Amino acid sequence: MAVPISGFSKKTKQQKIDWLTSTYLANDPTASLTLQKYWNSDAQLQKLHDDFIENTISNYYLPLGVAPNFLINGELLTIPMVIEESSVVAAASNAAKFWLERGGFKAEVISTQKNGQVHFNFFGKEGDITSFFTEIKPTLIESLATLQKSMQKRGGGLLDITLINSSEALEGYYQLHCTFETLDAMGANFINSCLEQLAKTFEAEAHKYTPFITANQFPEIALSILSNYVPECLVRAHVSCPVADLATNNIDGATFAKKFVRAVNIAKTEPRRAVTHNKGIMNGVDAVILATGNDFRAVEAGVHAYAAKEGRYTSLTDARIENDIFTFSIELPLALGTVGGLTTLHPLVKFAFSLLQKPNAQQLMKIVAVAGLAQNFAALRSLVTTGIQKGHMKMHLMNILNQLEATTSEKEKAVIYFTTNPISHSSVVSFIDTLRA
Ligand code: HMG
Repeated sequence: MAVPISGFSKKTKQQKIDWLTSTYLANDPTASLTLQKYWNSDAQLQKLHDDFIENTISNYYLPLGVAPNFLINGELLTIPMVIEESSVVAAASNAAKFWLERGGFKAEVISTQKNGQVHFNFFGKEGDITSFFTEIKPTLIESLATLQKSMQKRGGGLLDITLINSSEALEGYYQLHCTFETLDAMGANFINSCLEQLAKTFEAEAHKYTPFITANQFPEIALSILSNYVPECLVRAHVSCPVADLATNNIDGATFAKKFVRAVNIAKTEPRRAVTHNKGIMNGVDAVILATGNDFRAVEAGVHAYAAKEGRYTSLTDARIENDIFTFSIELPLALGTVGGLTTLHPLVKFAFSLLQKPNAQQLMKIVAVAGLAQNFAALRSLVTTGIQKGHMKMHLMNILNQLEATTSEKEKAVIYFTTNPISHSSVVSFIDTLRA
């Protein structure tokens, strides 16, 4: 039976693996070998990866794929995507190719403001905290002078601080709501450092403020942290063409457009559908976020909060037909960085940025939004025509064959057979069984 361990973090990588295999894996030698197989043969590169996180024992690979033919604001790009799910990269490529012939994607950044809060408790008179804040606001800003120096030189920094009284929702709860411009940095470290400094200054000044001393009621800091909800850091992307131009071999443009708009409206109406609809969007968004070393948890949390901003979870995309013109659009809050973090550390992230022609943060916001829109287009296009399984299973076939340890010759025969036959796990199993009988 496992017992707790103290000092695990201080052990070497090998000692950690030995402890794991003896404690949980019955000293299975293959477990340790599997971990080793994923170590990089370049020791320096491996050390770099070891140091990204803590208690590293191996690398967990995800495929890096590319989706070509993305025409975005007139520029032709190939988008790097890191994802484990089959058919996502094919779907993105398919949508890119479709829109390449119909004018491409257009994208624009609406706003770039980030935010964070000093959350604090105050149980005294509201008038006292309001006048205190008004009096010390310049001192608060001044206390950031050193921290902000470089960011301000580049044109960013703190934009404003406002006092928010949230005590109706939670007794004694107030916030200093702070807004920032962090340019090409995602800004988490900068914002958090600023907030912690503001909190310190706020508390120190409070202890010198006469009305607080007289009432013996002082504001008390609860926590200071950036917000990953960034509705003021917004990007919009769209595609548009005459309805007739949507025609393909299988369906006329008007019928397709009507079915497509209906599918989006269903996602706008029904949260159960909206969640899956948006999951499809995040297939594209997360894959580019990962490839470019950005924080997909932050983006996920912020995007889903945005999808529920009206009090009900809904679609992140919109589709409409007006005057025989079909328009499909997306709006996403995205706080991204093209400097700092992993961007200059991870060699594959550097590769991704080079492939994308070294975008700045605003350009990356546009690329990510387009990837999300393209993904949603491809999924909905399948859903309202052939159904999703046809294309998805076509891409998933190789995974099933690998699971069955199919040989190269079996795989070749299977690919030919399943070009014209429906793919399911059981149909592939029985095809391989027949070959082997
Ligand atoms: P197809 O029409 O059979 O493809 O589509 P094709 O063989 O005719 O090729 C056309 C183009 O598709 C290719 O052009 C590629 O751009 C791309 P080419 O390169 O030949 O000039 N393509 C590929 N790219 C790379 N590798 C491949 C490949 N095959 C085609 N192997 C396809 C097949 C899968 C693209 C199509 O059926 C599709 O887009 N399906 C949607 C798949 C999808 O959305 N997958 C996401 C996972 S499902 C999910 O999680 C989300 C969902 O639940 C969301 C929701 O409910 O809204 C669905």
